Amino acid sequence: MHSIVRFAAAARSVLAGAGTAEERWAEIARLVPALLGDPELRACAAGWTDTHGNGYTTTTNLLLYEDPEYGFVINSLVKAQGGLVRPHDHAHTWTAYGVIEGTERIVRYRIVEGDRYAKQARLERTSDTIVQPGFVDLIGPYEAHAENAASGRTVAIIVRSHKTGRALHAIYDLESCKVERRPGPAQVPVLLE
Ligand SMILES: [Fe+2]
Repeated sequence: MHSIVRFAAAARSVLAGAGTAEERWAEIARLVPALLGDPELRACAAGWTDTHGNGYTTTTNLLLYEDPEYGFVINSLVKAQGGLVRPHDHAHTWTAYGVIEGTERIVRYRIVEGDRYAKQARLERTSDTIVQPGFVDLIGPYEAHAENAASGRTVAIIVRSHKTGRALHAIYDLESCKVERRPGPAQVPVLLE
């Protein structure tokens, strides 16, 4: 698909350039709206089935692109109406999370007791935002957050600095304060023409 090829080429040139990881990923996040606005990709996304399952343990990501040199991936996460995600982080990786369909509620947290490596951690909400298609959230290393379906079905296009599966994500329970660590959503390759 042309928009994916164009995006990947632009992201590769950002990663080949100068700057800190934060600066480069902020620049990559600024490239994501072009993907979210592509009518061809939006039409494809409309046909994808729910990948969210019943929660973090059964969630999968569609794998739309994997860069052979830099290792970044383009994923999609499809949530049915009411799809909720427990607060979590993406370990050491960078993520540009874009909404291509539906209305989402993005919540950010900070840890006020314990830590991501402990058995327990208490989180405090620091922001709570309702977002529409076209919105891109840049999630840095170890930042606790949750993206939930606010109304109806939602589809996200997610650019990750690293493919999930090799680093443990921390997953938090707001009530019990229990911390789990899991390798993140399983990757399900999708062929795009
Ligand atoms: Fe996330």
